[in-house]
Amino acid sequence: MNYDELKSLVQSSRTTRRFKKDAKVTNEDLKELLEVARLTSSAKNMQPIKYILVTKKEEVLQLAQTAAWAAHFKEWEQSDEERPSAFILMLNDRMIDGYPLFDAGASFTAISLAAKSKGLAVCPMASIDKELCSKLFVIPDNLDVMIGIAVGIGNETIQLVDAKAGDTNYYRLEDETHCVPKRTLDQIIMGEY
Ligand SMILES: Cc1cc2nc3c(=O)[nH]c(=O)nc-3n(C[C@H](O)[C@H](O)[C@H](O)COP(=O)(O)O)c2cc1C
Repeated sequence: MNYDELKSLVQSSRTTRRFKKDAKVTNEDLKELLEVARLTSSAKNMQPIKYILVTKKEEVLQLAQTAAWAAHFKEWEQSDEERPSAFILMLNDRMIDGYPLFDAGASFTAISLAAKSKGLAVCPMASIDKELCSKLFVIPDNLDVMIGIAVGIGNETIQLVDAKAGDTNYYRLEDETHCVPKRTLDQIIMGEY
């Protein structure tokens, strides 16, 4: 893969909140994503991040219905027609002395890129209902749910745009295209020595 192909993969791997109804995502699909995620860098190589895979329809629906989708959109709710097909839960193992926030970010990026390369789309969700998770799944005391990742087949048009005047709020156009402003290089490089 050359630079342009890699950049294009990153550009097209976007947070997705509208999924194709009843698309099949299997446990094996999720494991393929984790086969990539488990290879990512980890502070002191301690690898404290653990995972729970959720593909059962009723559990996926409950997780999707209780999470907060697109906090910036007060007038939009994900409908039952747009639900994801699966979830991956990321957990921090407190018995392992690591740097879980960074490791989780690295892992998520790998999952997102691997998903895109397999025709899937994801949404990382800090708003996953952690109490619900502990009711639905067996989670040992040393494991804290950090984030949920919705997985499905995307069904929306998403476009990156340059952030203007420091405004990074995502928005939708009249034709429902979802626009995601990203700060430009000159807005984020604070020095060149
Ligand atoms: C740590 C983290 C938590 C997030 N939690 C949520 C969430 O609970 N609900 C949601 O709809 N989007 C969530 N997102 C998605 C962000 O809103 C999204 O990354 C942002 O709008 C930029 O879009 P992009 O990922 O396509 O670049 C989260 C993203 C990150 C990195």
